[in-house]
Amino acid sequence: MTVTPETGRWEALAAARTRADVGEGIASVLALLGIPDLISFAGGFPDPKTFPRERMSALLQEFAAAGEVSAFQYAPTGGLAGPRDALADRLERLQGRRPADDELLITSGGIEALELVTKSYLDPGDVVVVEAPTYLGAIQAFRSFEAKLVAVSMDQDGLEVDELEHLLAAGLRPKLLYSIPDHQNPAGVSLSGERRAPLVELARRYGFLIVEDVAYRELGFAADTFPSLWSLAPDVVVQAGTTSKTMFPGIRLGWAVGPPDIAARLVSTKQNTDQCAGALGQRLFEESARRGWLDEQVALSRALYERKAARLLAALERSMPEGAHWTRPQGGFFSWLTLPDGADSVDLAQRAVEQGVGIVPGTLFFPDGRGANTVRLSFSLVDEALIDDGIARLGALL
Ligand SMILES: Cc1ncc(COP(=O)(O)O)c(C=O)c1O
Repeated sequence: MTVTPETGRWEALAAARTRADVGEGIASVLALLGIPDLISFAGGFPDPKTFPRERMSALLQEFAAAGEVSAFQYAPTGGLAGPRDALADRLERLQGRRPADDELLITSGGIEALELVTKSYLDPGDVVVVEAPTYLGAIQAFRSFEAKLVAVSMDQDGLEVDELEHLLAAGLRPKLLYSIPDHQNPAGVSLSGERRAPLVELARRYGFLIVEDVAYRELGFAADTFPSLWSLAPDVVVQAGTTSKTMFPGIRLGWAVGPPDIAARLVSTKQNTDQCAGALGQRLFEESARRGWLDEQVALSRALYERKAARLLAALERSMPEGAHWTRPQGGFFSWLTLPDGADSVDLAQRAVEQGVGIVPGTLFFPDGRGANTVRLSFSLVDEALIDDGIARLGALL
């Protein structure tokens, strides 16, 4: 018998933990989002206009001309010394704390940092607290290690730390808490400054580890930022970072910083995942950071995304019906739309595709089936000139 995806011959052999599925409605919407010529508010991809093509090309030529070996060779599991140092410098400058050498490792993207934490710390049935809603990739990572997910609500100021405190007081005992405190994916809000210290205090009191995902932290539209959770409490926080949104995702480069015993365990876990992050990407990052190119790129990206966000918000203002409301992002890639009562976002997404518009139903971002009337709108990749038209079509459907 020929094995094709249609016959599904190997399905019966798949590990049970890989079979968790997203539901038929959502799967059919996701399948439709790939069609060409869609005005797509769906993916969380960076705008290719921000990619530093010429500079990367110049660096590759430099490496070759200099006879460089390290960019082309295997790297130590925790990362090459130069890129580690450039990253530590950057974290010190942007977050006010320099990780010690034994607190840091370079990963193959932010998602690998999450994967290493889950693989190293979760047994089946362990409790992980997540924000409601949260990043789909994290839900999948935690699920693939058979964790039990508990979703705690968010409001305009991010995770509702009071609600978390009540749950803990009532006996909830998570091993991990996963948070995206800055310009959250998908909600487009940030954890307020006032909630940050109480959150890390809860981690100390109840003995859980906070996994802080800072994927969008550097992409705030204004210069001011709240202190990172890791800088507030390096004893109870492991931070997962990425260069995917600031530099470009093609190098799959990120980091994890945390308490030394955790960093050591992650390095040892990484030895039997991919052994090391690609050295070429590490060297491109190091040179871009050292030469100030990355800062320049981030400044241009912030301005571009701020303009796109403003255009999206103005279009929503014009086109959404009464009873709809949405978040007003101060950075990142997303706004979170809540539809009037009774609206069904899976149905809306299907009808939107027929009108040439891509959106992602919000239920996907909850581990517990909530969010039937919510939608994630991404403004990062959509062509600026098409935003008004796309939102007008969506408004007409509502
Ligand atoms: C919150 C969040 N964390 C991590 C990632 C993944 O980053 P990377 O491309 O570095 O794996 C993303 C990408 O969409 C994200 O939105």
